[in-house]
Formats: sequence, structure tokens, C-alpha cells
Amino acid sequence: MKKIAPSILSADFSRLKEELEAVEAAGADLIHVDVMDGHFVPNLTIGPMVVEGLRKLTSLPLDVHLMIAEPERYTEAFVQAGGSWVTVHAESCASLPRAVKKIRQLGARPGVVLNPSTPLKVLDPVLERVDLILLMSVHPGFGGQAFMPSVLRKIERMRKRVDRNGYAVEIEVDGGIKVENIRRVSEAGADIFVLGTGIFKTKDYSETIRKLRREIE
Ligand code: DX5
Ligand code: ZN
Repeated sequence: MKKIAPSILSADFSRLKEELEAVEAAGADLIHVDVMDGHFVPNLTIGPMVVEGLRKLTSLPLDVHLMIAEPERYTEAFVQAGGSWVTVHAESCASLPRAVKKIRQLGARPGVVLNPSTPLKVLDPVLERVDLILLMSVHPGFGGQAFMPSVLRKIERMRKRVDRNGYAVEIEVDGGIKVENIRRVSEAGADIFVLGTGIFKTKDYSETIRKLRREIE
């Protein structure tokens, strides 16, 4: 089953409760939470306290995307706050196997994220142990950027590798996805689609998610 994950980065933060209820009612599968530290990426967003608040506002799994330096220092706080999936960037993580193991021991589902220019081979030590591979299709840091078409080939290669080896891994793609291009991302092999502006900057979330599903199913 392909999944739609609205990124609350583009939601109206003065109405987070309504925004979460609206995307849940519209048929979202996960809530994508972009955590930025003003260091690994040039933007600051939310921390574990806000995640704890979000946890109370929705029954959907929270997909916590850690765009932070030294993510291992904070995985426990984000799992305790209610993160169901926690993903760490390969570029900022000292030991992916250790981080992945820790997230699983804490009781959440571990994932690894790659920036557009980071090669798939960095995943070699963890492919058999992660639940999620998140491939960035923009440079992380801000919503509303254009999808980088060069990432389509990378998604295809990842899909082939996962299928060939029978890994129990879902492939998620994040950045610049819209109704207009989601079909290509899906055909390349993605299972989970993150959309910030592509959902929250549209008028009718139900209509948008219906259109998105029509493109990928
Ligand atoms: C970018 C974030 C994305 C972002 C996506 O650094 O990781 O999750 O919210 O926003 P859109 O869909 O607008 O590109
Ligand atoms: Zn994200």
C-alpha cells in the first residue's frame, strides 16, 4: 500500500490542531514532522516538546525526519515524545548501524535519509536493519522547492536493490512532490510520498489527496 505523508512544515502553525484533523480526515497515512536545528540545515523548526503536543492531536503515526547534527543525541527524546518512525541523515550521523539499533531498541521504526547527492552505497551497512529509506528530492531545509528530476534514477536503483534482495524496507521520497509529478515518483518505485506545500497550500485537502491517490494507484 502506497502512503501519503503530509509534512506539517507547510501547515498553518496557528491552527495546528485543525490542520492535523483536516489531513487525517482527508485520508493521510502518516504525519511527516520536519525537525531542523539551524546547523545541519539553515532553518529552525520544532523540537521534542512540540512533537509531544502533536502526538495528542492525531492518531496517525508520526514520521519524524531529523535534519540535525549528531542525531543520536536526540533519538531517545523524539521517540519518547511520540515519534513512530524516526529517520536520521547519513550525512550527520557518526554511526548509522548504532543509530538504527538504538531507535529500534527504543521502540520506534528506524529509517535513514540521504541528501540528493549522497550515494546509495552509504546504506550498505544498514539495509537489512532499517524499515525506511528516505530519499531527498530537494536540498533539505525548506518547503516549497522544486523536485529534482535527477533523483528519479536513484529511486529506481534503490527499488531494484530492495526488490532483488527482498529487504523489508519502504522507500520514501521527500521534496517538491505535487499532483503533477507524483506519478513519475511512484513509477520510479517510491512507497511513501511526503508533501508539504503540495497539500497544505491547496484549498481542499481531501480533493488533493484523492487526486494524488488516483495518480499512484
Ligand atoms: C524539506 C523537508 C520537506 C518539506 C517538503 O527539507 O524535509 O519535508 O516539508 O516540502 P515540499 O513538499 O513543499 O517540498
Ligand atoms: Zn522532510
